[in-house]
Amino acid sequence: MSIVLAGYGLTKKYGSTTALAGVDIEVGERDSLAIMGPSGSGKSTLLHTLAGIIRPDGGQVLLGGERIDRLGENRLSALRRSRFGFVFQSGQLLPELPAEENVALPLMLEGVPRKQAVERARRWFAPLGLDGLERRRPGQLSGGQAQRVAIARALVVAPDVVFADEPTGALDQATSHEVIRLLTSVTREQGAALVMVTHDADMAAHCDRILQVSDGRIGTYDQFTVA
Ligand SMILES: Nc1ncnc2c1ncn2[C@@H]1O[C@H](COP(=O)(O)OP(=O)(O)O)[C@@H](O)[C@H]1O
Ligand SMILES: [Mg+2]
Repeated sequence: MSIVLAGYGLTKKYGSTTALAGVDIEVGERDSLAIMGPSGSGKSTLLHTLAGIIRPDGGQVLLGGERIDRLGENRLSALRRSRFGFVFQSGQLLPELPAEENVALPLMLEGVPRKQAVERARRWFAPLGLDGLERRRPGQLSGGQAQRVAIARALVVAPDVVFADEPTGALDQATSHEVIRLLTSVTREQGAALVMVTHDADMAAHCDRILQVSDGRIGTYDQFTVA
């Protein structure tokens, strides 16, 4: 397995709270990884640290073998925009923009002209079952549709890694399965790796591997042992 993203010896404290107590993690190309664990165990801190949003107190984060945890803020945010995609729980779409422009936004931030960006954005609607919803505003979409638009937006830049933190936290069970099925399959087809935080074992089972976090540490379990 060729490793696209890795964290070694990651530590992070908030005051006297230890959020990460020395985590080693490797993510392969096209790997899909579910991070599970109780509330407050450090899942989001780990995801944000790997994504270059939080700087660790100790340890290293490597993307394609290059250390990114020490990069300056400008280079780091450029790298996040071009090499990572993000899907959060909800409320991440800009309400005043049609769905296709929400998806096109990361491309426009990269300097792609609006017309071309929207054209490329539109290609993602059919694979995600969003045909015909291109001009809808987020307020006119169901929760599941909005998350599928968010997935399109995460993938439109052809990222190396997609990060998803509780992406179905606001959805019912049936819709959640459909959204995670699409997230995992489309991400894999695109050739990106997926790192997903979830507290739901049924959602985690869609991923190739499950990592269990507790008290800022990781234990590895085969998904069949967990289920
Ligand atoms: N910005 C912050 N300031 C202070 N404490 C934080 C902050 N972010 C997280 N923590 C603490 O770090 C621990 C891990 O948090 P988090 O990574 O959000 O856990 P999870 O995502 O598993 O619920 C928790 O005890 C949480 O309260
Ligand atoms: Mg969290």
